[in-house]
Amino acid sequence: MTTDRATAGESAQPAAGIEVKPVAGHIGAEITGVDLADGPDDAQVAAIRAAVLRWKVVFFRGQRLDHAGHVAFARRFGEPVVLRRRGSASPPDFPEIETTADRLELGGRFGMDHDEWLRRRRHTLLRGWHCDHGARVDPPAATILRAETVPPYGGDTTWSNLAAAYAGLSGPVRAFVDGLRAEHRLGVGYQPRPGDDAYVRHLLDHQIATLHPLVRVHPETGERVLYVNGYYVEQIADVSRAESAAILDLLLEQATRPEYTVRFRWEPGSVAFWDNRATIHLAPSDNAHLGPRTMHRVMLTGDVPVGADGRPSQALVGSEPGRW
Ligand SMILES: [Fe+2]
Repeated sequence: MTTDRATAGESAQPAAGIEVKPVAGHIGAEITGVDLADGPDDAQVAAIRAAVLRWKVVFFRGQRLDHAGHVAFARRFGEPVVLRRRGSASPPDFPEIETTADRLELGGRFGMDHDEWLRRRRHTLLRGWHCDHGARVDPPAATILRAETVPPYGGDTTWSNLAAAYAGLSGPVRAFVDGLRAEHRLGVGYQPRPGDDAYVRHLLDHQIATLHPLVRVHPETGERVLYVNGYYVEQIADVSRAESAAILDLLLEQATRPEYTVRFRWEPGSVAFWDNRATIHLAPSDNAHLGPRTMHRVMLTGDVPVGADGRPSQALVGSEPGRW
């Protein structure tokens, strides 16, 4: 997502008809008065962009975007990512869109039923919290997710504001974490199956890991962000395993404190647009027994993070800036 610093925060002028209504104390705003399929004008785009930077995730309801409209809307804010591999439900004619239609698909791809897939994942309650493609050296700047079919209840998504989480730390702890870096790696904590394990083979064939700053300076707002998550982060660099585990426990608990979060209940036609550099989110785990849930996602390309100490992230394996 690209913008100049002047439009960040609350300085943007309200665009005609658009209303930005915060829905929680530190994160999340609902935007009304704009039809995303209609091609928002420049003032509306600027207002949405400012709201995303200020509130980290914004929500639209009752939209009627199709695939083409979804991609066109995303292009107003940056360059859509084109993935080399997508879920099988993704639309072949729109390479910018990834569709998730079946939660059971991932385990099945590696010869496991869904329960076993969940059992073998990392053993921590916070494991589901992630930013999208966070093990890359240049994770996406933003994600725009649209709901097509959702169950009548269940399946909510939750986001947390990592700038607020950083600001909420005490001064001494902020100073302590400012210069640290952590390894983000796909598949950490996975418990392999006995014998041949197709998922382990997949992980070895598609390794991806990056050394990211633990405190990232947001490229547009200049805020410091507690750049941590429960899904990819395995080890803080240059400290012992035991020290790393204790520090990560403290920081992950901070990053996911309820006061920094917002929870969104989806309806068909809902759209959520979040800053993937300043948030982590939690996919739902209460809807496997409910009806189908079909969601379409477009991500925008992002920068290589830069730490509070000025050092950029360093790719360890599997990704190059700008190459997907
Ligand atoms: Fe995600």
